Amino acid sequence: MVTENELICKCKKVSLADIEHALRNSKSMSDVDAAFADVQKQTACSTGCGKCHDKIYDIISQMMYGLI
Ligand code: FES
Repeated sequence: MVTENELICKCKKVSLADIEHALRNSKSMSDVDAAFADVQKQTACSTGCGKCHDKIYDIISQMMYGLI
């Protein structure tokens, strides 16, 4: 179970709450790739080692489809 303050992207210190916040500001809610790009632009997540990419992508798609 992921908590709000857990760092999802350790390189850029981006938490689940940061991703959620950035996603709410995103205008790309119909397309996961575009939403990911938007969240990445706002938070710089997944611009370091890149290991968090799949995790963040999954989180964004789950948020967009109302699963979390
Ligand atoms: S953990 Fe996100 S870029 Fe390294």
